[in-house]
Amino acid sequence: MNAAIIGVGHHVPDNVVTNKDLEKVMETSDEWIKERSGIKERRFGDAIEESSSRMGYKAALMALQDAKIDKHDIDLIIFSTLNPDYFFPGCGVLLQRDLELKEIPALDIRQQCSGFVYGLSVAKAYINSGMYKNILFVCSEQQSAMLDLTTRGRNISVLFGDGAGAAILSRSEVKGKGILSSHLYSEGKHARELMMDGPHTGRWVPEIIAENDPEDISYYPYMNGQFVFKNAIVRFTEVINEGLKKTGWSPDEIGMLIPHQANLRIAQFVQKKFNLSDDQVYNNIQRYGNTTAASIPIALTEAWEEGKIVPETKVVLAAFGSGFTWGSVMIQW
Ligand code: ACO
Repeated sequence: MNAAIIGVGHHVPDNVVTNKDLEKVMETSDEWIKERSGIKERRFGDAIEESSSRMGYKAALMALQDAKIDKHDIDLIIFSTLNPDYFFPGCGVLLQRDLELKEIPALDIRQQCSGFVYGLSVAKAYINSGMYKNILFVCSEQQSAMLDLTTRGRNISVLFGDGAGAAILSRSEVKGKGILSSHLYSEGKHARELMMDGPHTGRWVPEIIAENDPEDISYYPYMNGQFVFKNAIVRFTEVINEGLKKTGWSPDEIGMLIPHQANLRIAQFVQKKFNLSDDQVYNNIQRYGNTTAASIPIALTEAWEEGKIVPETKVVLAAFGSGFTWGSVMIQW
């Protein structure tokens, strides 16, 4: 048995925040953001109404409709986010509650920007083994609530946006169709290069409150941008090459490469490295910023809606992010 994506969906908040809007709250400029990252605008949703589970719910409804599948036929939920509604429980059970599903299992994974490629490999393994037939996989990120939207946090907060993407995976009836291979990696020695430190079990909320340090930035995301950038371009290239080798595809056979939308310059570097045309690569970071785990499924949904992915398209997904974790997935659509 093989696993195939039979439906996709996404949701982004209505509230558009342009680079000019950010100029009003921090020392930055539209030119700097566009030149360094390609981003023109992003969406910031309400922290409660558009929490990760709520946006995920809306993306899930769209994916269920696209797959033309009854929600009660889903037998596993996988949820990926780095911004869960609660420290615990995870968002998977909140989605099971909101969709009013029977007591099916809900599995949360924590792989940040690599969430979608990691999650697809988990879904594929469950379907291949015969354990589950129809899996709802949701990636959703309410990030705006955790950003330091002052000049102090500008190197990271201008990059991120809110949004959710979803996919329904099911058994593929056609031989050679569906997810052909996945290639996953991690390198935890770089965990602190892209992370959110606080609160952690060694320094919990009472300590943070007691110290009352206005310069404490431990509970905002931290990124060593240039180090992340340099590692990202190497790992993207390696892991796409590995997928090409495994499938025997040549770069010119790629119908659609969807790289995690971290930075347009990273995507352009990868495009150049494999000598791909603009038609072979999908980017929407210009409109949404980096939506972490949600970025690939949002882009996948848009590419599908725009007719850029059709049956027979050879699709390559690749991601790199906090951990560091990275991976690629090769799909024969
Ligand atoms: N507006 C204006 N100036 C800024 C801003 C801003 N928003 N942010 C930083 N600057 C300044 C810096 O202070 C610095 O000033 P200085 O030279 O006077 O010290 C200058 O701009 C250059 O800063 P750099 O950090 O060197 O800029 P760089 O060209 O490296 O671009 C960026 C920064 C866009 C963050 C880049 O490093 C990058 O994209 N990194 C990778 C991001 C990524 O892939 N993340 C992984 C996914 S995220 C995840 O998994 C959660």
